[in-house]
Amino acid sequence: MSKKKIVFSGVQPTGNLHLGNYLGALKNFVSLQEEMNCIYCVVDLHAITTFQNPKDLKKNVLETLASFLATGLNPDKSIIFNQSSVSGHAELAWILNCVSRIGWLNRMTQFKDKAGSDKEKASVGLYIYPNLMAADILLYKATHVPVGADQKQHLELSRDIAQKFNSDFDCKDFFPLPEPLIPKNVSRVMSLRDGNKKMSKSEESDYSRINLKDSADEITKKIKKAKSASDQIPDNLKDLEKKPEALNLMHIYSEISKISLEKVLNEMSGKEYSHLKSKLTDLLIDEITPVGKEINKLLNDKSHLELILKKGKEKANIIAEENLKIIREKVGLI
Ligand code: TYM
Repeated sequence: MSKKKIVFSGVQPTGNLHLGNYLGALKNFVSLQEEMNCIYCVVDLHAITTFQNPKDLKKNVLETLASFLATGLNPDKSIIFNQSSVSGHAELAWILNCVSRIGWLNRMTQFKDKAGSDKEKASVGLYIYPNLMAADILLYKATHVPVGADQKQHLELSRDIAQKFNSDFDCKDFFPLPEPLIPKNVSRVMSLRDGNKKMSKSEESDYSRINLKDSADEITKKIKKAKSASDQIPDNLKDLEKKPEALNLMHIYSEISKISLEKVLNEMSGKEYSHLKSKLTDLLIDEITPVGKEINKLLNDKSHLELILKKGKEKANIIAEENLKIIREKVGLI
């Protein structure tokens, strides 16, 4: 790898990717591949921290890869592979399990959300998941990590683990402290049904999200049904912020149209929310439906997708093994 900055990020293959994944992560992945050394991973080992039907998991790994490619990731520019194919992730995760502290993991809010009320029944994997995430990043000595805001706490933990490893094994600056790259306005794309909840694959109602594979018809229906506000569009951000659903639609509109929120408010103040919804529907159809079509097209050629994973794995494995060799030495493993 020639350029110095190393980017790593991952996406779980747990079904349909949505607009939150797209605006919060994937679009950033694509722009970064022009300027930095990028490594993008379909994190299947993370997915199995909650039970996955094995047949669905295989299908979802290929579908997540197809989504990467359809949004513009290029395997000639970025390393693209699936996590379980490079065994260094699991090996480093074990070493980092021994560096990370139980007290640190106990603070992770995502575990509390995902484990629900009966924590005793959550898998151990779900609990130590943030250590695996640190291993993903540190295995490649990544310096930058594009993610949505929901991953910020995990990134902070990765920095703590890197720092403790560097200090425990007396190797100042060995692991760089990875910096999160979080988009400003769409760091947390919210549910279309509840502006206080993030858009998520696991939310029951499909009307809460725009999936990358949604048709124009589905997008139209979902935006029409999306919650907004009953009064007119205000002329200032302070008033808009009182209506989280309306603010969310505005942020999405502003991000995709590349028009600042202030300008959008100037243009639309005094109009009904149906005006925003109709413009947003057109924008989303133009932006998302070509991606969905491309995903379906790519999924018709599974051997092509498998070949991309195989080549990505070979490239990732070379870097992982080089770094692991030094890590094993530092820890005293023979
Ligand atoms: P995952 O698979 O849940 O989500 C993939 C990416 O999409 C972002 N995201 C969102 N961004 C904005 N608004 C939303 N509503 C929204 N929903 C999801 C996520 O922040 C993420 O960037 N633990 C990670 C995967 C992972 C990883 C890593 C990431 C594993 N190892 C190492 C970075 C570095 C996860 O579950 O993402």
